[in-house]
Amino acid sequence: MAIQKVMVIGAGQMGSGIAQVCAQAGLEVLLNDISEESYERGIGTITRNLSRNVEKGRMAEDEKAAVLQRFTKSLSLQDAKDVDLVIEAAVENMDIKQSIFKQLDVIAPEHAILASNTSSLPITEIAAVTNRPAQVIGMHFMNPVPVMKLVEIIRGLATSDEVYNSIEELTKKLQKVPVEVNDFPGFVANRVLMPMINEAIFTLYEGVATKEAIDEVMKLGMNHPMGPLTLADFIGLDTCLYIMETLYEGFGDSKYRPCPLLRKYVKAGWLGKKSGRGFYEYS
Ligand code: CAA
Repeated sequence: MAIQKVMVIGAGQMGSGIAQVCAQAGLEVLLNDISEESYERGIGTITRNLSRNVEKGRMAEDEKAAVLQRFTKSLSLQDAKDVDLVIEAAVENMDIKQSIFKQLDVIAPEHAILASNTSSLPITEIAAVTNRPAQVIGMHFMNPVPVMKLVEIIRGLATSDEVYNSIEELTKKLQKVPVEVNDFPGFVANRVLMPMINEAIFTLYEGVATKEAIDEVMKLGMNHPMGPLTLADFIGLDTCLYIMETLYEGFGDSKYRPCPLLRKYVKAGWLGKKSGRGFYEYS
């Protein structure tokens, strides 16, 4: 079945990026959020990104208009009644995700696939609250979505091959590279990335080097585009902590213990770029 109409839940950083690449690939997109204000912020970001593509000569002005026309505002999950796919990019909280999937299971057509952009929560546990676990799958996009090529595709315990294949095909249509991953805490991306970030924070906490030095070592020594502390600020320190907690709890292994400095910053409200302060300050 060809996927033509998609609902993206959450118009934040990840949701708006996912919605943008879907619309650019020619899909009809319902961009859903709980408030009008969040929707407007999301569509504003998308419009700015598209305008930049026009300025850079990567997109014609009429193509930008055509992409924007493919969006419909949605403030209710009831709008999922005639979509082929839902991609959920709401907050990283199992109770909220399960509540959304329970509702979607009732509202969305029988053939619809329900995907989650969760960065580390078990797909199998989200699927278990629906009556269609074979049609539930993880589509983990990377931030910033319009730029990053990878989508980790996570098979839940019951995800069918047919659904996996449809999502793999769609990912290619979005000009992204799909990588198949099984459902274990943190999948692959965050199981490898977050302990590195957490270790960089320990390195700072133990006074081994300054934040600038730690970032410089990893940027110049390992050719990473951003140092790990800058990257942590970019991802959000609350998200980093949440993922470390998921790994720690999921594996019960002390090697995933979140650094106390990370906890302290999150408790202080120093969440990184989005709050104006994390390891660095942002104006
Ligand atoms: N949205 C759209 N486009 C963006 C963007 C955004 N948020 N941020 C940057 N870009 C575009 C810029 O417009 C620019 O495009 P042009 O070619 O038109 O100039 C291009 O990306 C490069 O940007 P900049 O020149 O401003 O800066 P840069 O060269 O340093 O690149 C970066 C910025 C792409 C973010 C780069 O620093 C990078 O790759 N950083 C690492 C990102 C990363 O590791 N992401 C994964 C995070 S982990 C994750 O997402 C998983 C999770 O679950 C936590």
